[in-house]
Amino acid sequence: MSGAAIARLVDIISASWMCQAAYAAAELGIPDLLDGASRSVDDLARTTRCDRASLFRLLRALAALDICIENADGSFAVTEMGRLLATRSECSLRSWALWAGNYQWQVWGRLLASVQSGRTARQLAGGDRGFVHLEADATAAAVFHETMAQLTRLVSLQVARDYDFAPAQHVVDVGGGHGELLANILSAHEHLHGTLYDRPHALKGAEAQFRRSKVAQRCTLLAGDFFQAVPPAADIYILKSILHDWDDHASV
Ligand SMILES: C[S@@+](CC[C@H](N)C(=O)[O-])C[C@H]1O[C@@H](n2cnc3c(N)ncnc32)[C@H](O)[C@@H]1O
Repeated sequence: MSGAAIARLVDIISASWMCQAAYAAAELGIPDLLDGASRSVDDLARTTRCDRASLFRLLRALAALDICIENADGSFAVTEMGRLLATRSECSLRSWALWAGNYQWQVWGRLLASVQSGRTARQLAGGDRGFVHLEADATAAAVFHETMAQLTRLVSLQVARDYDFAPAQHVVDVGGGHGELLANILSAHEHLHGTLYDRPHALKGAEAQFRRSKVAQRCTLLAGDFFQAVPPAADIYILKSILHDWDDHASV
């Protein structure tokens, strides 16, 4: 058996500590606190109201992950990668860390039971199937939709630039979340009208996104259920990161 195979499997099996270390750093705001200046453990422990010794261990774990570095004088600084966990970072993935380390954590823990029972892990965790649970939890909905916007931001400018939208007049983004992709498409193509179609919990944050992008006049926000219907007669229907959420029967 090769050492590489053993090392890879050990990494896979113990991935939980990496996810939780990144989550704890993001939740405590450590990358934000270190953005621009190194700080001592005492200083960080005071500011974050954490136990000093435990925070020190977390910081050293973060150093092992290249999220921060330990300076010769014992202070810590954030790395370029670690800065991606800061709120203000241009390509921030902070919400993704919060979503994965907190909200998703409880769901993944039910994977085995889900496979055995055929019920979704979310149902087994006491929720509804799909995304209905976000309707009753505004905080979780905000973190989830910001997570999706952060991931979509990594590709939305490219999609808006590279796809030929010239022949189209009306684009519907089905399950478009906070509108990150549609707002970029409308910004890049002034002749287009867009419809953002999603559940009510998504549309709450979408208005702000379209206003910020100065395309609110050309976009309609429509709440609905894509299993019941989608807005008719558009030229382009986008389903980005939608089908993977559902089984074949629901998707087709
Ligand atoms: C994984 S997210 C993708 C969001 C967005 N397309 C993106 O890539 O950033 C799935 C989206 O589908 C929406 N959604 C889930 N079930 C839906 C339904 N039955 N009808 C309409 N939208 C739904 C969710 O609210 C969420 O915004």
